[in-house]
Amino acid sequence: MIYELSEQRIKNKLNTNFIARNICIFDKIASTNTAAKQNCDMNDGTLFAAESQTKGRGRTGREWSSPHGEDVFMSVLLKPKRLSENTPQLTLAAGVAVCRALADVCAVDARIKWPNDIVIGTKKVCGILTELAFDKNGDCYVVVGIGINVNRCAFDGELRDKATSLAESTGVGYDRNEIISAVINEFEKYYLLWQQGGFEMFREEYKRLCVNIGRAVVIIKDNQSQNAICRDISENGELIADIDGRPVTVRSGEVSVRGLYGYV
Ligand code: BTN
Repeated sequence: MIYELSEQRIKNKLNTNFIARNICIFDKIASTNTAAKQNCDMNDGTLFAAESQTKGRGRTGREWSSPHGEDVFMSVLLKPKRLSENTPQLTLAAGVAVCRALADVCAVDARIKWPNDIVIGTKKVCGILTELAFDKNGDCYVVVGIGINVNRCAFDGELRDKATSLAESTGVGYDRNEIISAVINEFEKYYLLWQQGGFEMFREEYKRLCVNIGRAVVIIKDNQSQNAICRDISENGELIADIDGRPVTVRSGEVSVRGLYGYV
């Protein structure tokens, strides 16, 4: 049984203090990240979710495929107290939260491809897009957008070789409302940890889930590729990699990381 998105069904399993206590659900929208930005005067923690997106956005200007009624497209509006330069770390918090939630609800061993791709085996199941912006008073806010392939089983074009869904990986379908509550419940925990003490509060857990450490990768920036070996994740969440035998710190920014022999 596939359920529609429902505020009540999300709230049934929600145990948060403030995230998703206010929920806006759309049938079709350009992008839940854009909706959150357009409504940035709403409460801290407001959740925006949609059945489909017509202009779903990914990192580095890519499109996020968002067909109707099958997957999760959601964004959380946040008004953090920490300095804005640390907000990319919220992507890392969301990554850990998604892995924990998917392990709990679907019993899958989801891992993180630095900085923000969630993979099952060698295929991507979830992407996270964190955006920082300023409201009309000049106050900073953050939108954490999460797209999870849930019940879709057919991927076209370039996605065919590199994307999977929870249904494809496990052989059963899921109530997206339950996936949303589980991710949000976990995300609030990591968000509060981050507010207390930054990335260091969950760095070890992130490293345990990160597939890249110890592996050979290709780092792609501005259409230029460099081979590297991933060594560590820094105290600020940057990737520490050896390039030509020298340690280099890589910030997430506009960089893509691929496995030397495949997507992971
Ligand atoms: C990526 O891996 O490139 C990030 C993808 C992020 C997609 C989500 S879907 C919900 C939210 N709305 C968007 O337009 N993008 C994010």
